[in-house]
Amino acid sequence: MAVSFEEFKNQAKKILDIDLDGYKLDRVERRTKSLMRRHNVKDFDECLNLLKHDTEFKDAYLNHFTINTSEFFRNPENFDFLKNNIFPEMFAEKRKIKIWSAPCSNGSEPYTLAIILNELNIDPSRYEILASDLDRSILEKAKKGEYRENSLKNVSDRYLKKYFTAIDGENSAYRLNTDIKSQVKFEQKDLINAPYSGSWDLILCRNFFIYLTKDMKNYLINKFTNVLNTGGYLFLGNTEYIFSPDKYGLEKIFQSFYKFNG
Ligand SMILES: C[S@@+](CC[C@H](N)C(=O)[O-])C[C@H]1O[C@@H](n2cnc3c(N)ncnc32)[C@H](O)[C@@H]1O
Repeated sequence: MAVSFEEFKNQAKKILDIDLDGYKLDRVERRTKSLMRRHNVKDFDECLNLLKHDTEFKDAYLNHFTINTSEFFRNPENFDFLKNNIFPEMFAEKRKIKIWSAPCSNGSEPYTLAIILNELNIDPSRYEILASDLDRSILEKAKKGEYRENSLKNVSDRYLKKYFTAIDGENSAYRLNTDIKSQVKFEQKDLINAPYSGSWDLILCRNFFIYLTKDMKNYLINKFTNVLNTGGYLFLGNTEYIFSPDKYGLEKIFQSFYKFNG
């Protein structure tokens, strides 16, 4: 008998070691089917077989499933708010600030933070930026720090000259300068299954909740607030909202920023 999507999902969860139940189900099904079409896979049975025995297909599935789109200064008005309001207040109050970009994708987001902090002339000894993602291949790209136009459209010419070097022989490709790269530490982490540690002043969890079920999103908001310092901020993506933020001790202060009041 043909394998149903439900059965596929239950087996794929074990093979991939990902909690697929935490993601919006119709989206998982759509992404799975579109990858199957692309690879001429006829049914879920064959797809499971490939996931078990073909590491290239397994990597392709993970890649297709995780959606790595990211860019520098994504939704620039929020990064202006960070630069002009949140960072000056934080650094006036505290000697050292801890920032976590989770998930970070290709590194554009945590590197944007390092650029802003450099522009504010904050000494790198005064901050720590940790960046986490599930996808090992995108983390390798992030560490390399090479980007094309699609990730750089919000980067001004001044910043491009100051923080990037054009890669010889490549059309519109740029390498981020080493001093900015050295200010971000990357780690592989499954934000759904793995425990969180540390205590953070600013957590960026942007363009991730949109892929998750309501229950998973609520569960993760609790996980994040457990490691957020009182007075710290949670920074979401532009289309992401927290309903009744006070339930979590959060207060919306600007577009995508929530302050944690404990
Ligand atoms: C659309 S990107 C968001 C990147 C960045 N925060 C931004 O807004 O530009 C979503 C990222 O979530 C990561 N991801 C998906 N499931 C994850 C999980 N369970 N744990 C950690 N990262 C995950 C993907 O690998 C992908 O890089």
